[in-house]
Amino acid sequence: MNMASSPADAAEGLSGGGLDLSSVKTIEGVDVGGKRVLVRVDFNVPIENGVVADATRLERVLPTIASLARSGAKVIVLSHLGRPEGVVSPGTSLWPVAEKMRELMPGTTIHFIGDCFGEEARRGVAAVKPGEIAVLENLRYYKGEEKNDMEFAKALADLGDIYVNDAFSSSHRAHASIEALAHLRPAYAGLLLMAEVSALGRALENPARPVMAIVGGAKVSTKIEVLTHLVSRMDQLAVGGGMANTFLAAEGIDTGASLVEPEFIETAKDIVARAERAGCEIVLPTDVVVAKEFKPGVDWRVCPVGAVPADAMILDFGPRSVAELKRRLAQVKTVLWNGPLGAFETAPFGEGTFALAREVARLTREGNLVSVAGGGDTVRALNIVGVADDLTYVSTAGGAFLEWLGGAKLPGVVALAQSGARSTR
Ligand code: 3PG
Ligand code: MG
Repeated sequence: MNMASSPADAAEGLSGGGLDLSSVKTIEGVDVGGKRVLVRVDFNVPIENGVVADATRLERVLPTIASLARSGAKVIVLSHLGRPEGVVSPGTSLWPVAEKMRELMPGTTIHFIGDCFGEEARRGVAAVKPGEIAVLENLRYYKGEEKNDMEFAKALADLGDIYVNDAFSSSHRAHASIEALAHLRPAYAGLLLMAEVSALGRALENPARPVMAIVGGAKVSTKIEVLTHLVSRMDQLAVGGGMANTFLAAEGIDTGASLVEPEFIETAKDIVARAERAGCEIVLPTDVVVAKEFKPGVDWRVCPVGAVPADAMILDFGPRSVAELKRRLAQVKTVLWNGPLGAFETAPFGEGTFALAREVARLTREGNLVSVAGGGDTVRALNIVGVADDLTYVSTAGGAFLEWLGGAKLPGVVALAQSGARSTR
């Protein structure tokens, strides 16, 4: 039986990180009946007290898994969880994830196989019938996974006939189940990976303009590539979070006791100069919320960026800065968002981020904005406000989203393109 075709995004015309993706093959329409299909997913989800605390990544990959099962495949699900670094360790078993899958897919047989390698894995997979699903234990219990080890990849390949990568959010890792394995079996992109790649590709490569990026987070040092890449592509770049302080410092503004990376002030200046040459406006806060300590219930006040007391630190955008962001959002057609404006986990320093989330959601709902957001903190903030469903696209990826924004070619996506290109030659 063939995988049901849907009018979903085709690979046609896509590009990402300068990569030609037209040779990436999607799983839609492929005859999978009776075949063992190895599906690499990203079930790296938070587990609290032995249960899945946030099932978003499960829900988002479900259409691929369900569709394969409906088409009569023996679905062999591969994933990592946490960073156990090659040893079996508590709290990193995929067993609770298999349990959650059973809850999400009533009526489907879901096996859990307590190993992804060796005799237990082989025996477990051999017992899977068409239309059934098996979740294998954590790939990262073996060092070969993160080493992209060919022998480990061959052992995984022996468990299946076809390979599907539906783990966009892990595709920045050149690991055995992401990279090497894609060269050992006919390799296809899953529905979620295709959706991610096309949504991000559209927003970054060929957006409705003007296009604005909002990048927050603590440190400039971790986002240099992203910022450098974005200023050459965006019309506006709003910088938030702790890293805005380093940009303010680069303008000679005294940021008091705020987190600043003095060794990256020159980098910030360089990014500003590049932005000027490229015609990208950099947007920094003009007023900020400050406090002497970073803890809940502490005294806080709003002040202009030029008047931060020596013993106070910047913890959020102020109301004037938020109003300015809203004014700009009303004029742009596309926004790409990664990273909060302030220390949003601690009240009241989330107000700037929450106000931004509400406005992005409102403009998108009204059909006036294409909005794409990604990254753990950003998605958490959207969920706190309850607007994640209102955005045009919310990526399941954190690190991979950032690397994509930074123009990197993701090893997992490259491997799919190479495998696809080989099979059509
Ligand atoms: C993620 O959660 O970002 C991915 O699953 C990758 O996990 P990693 O950062 O441990 O490689
Ligand atoms: Mg991560």
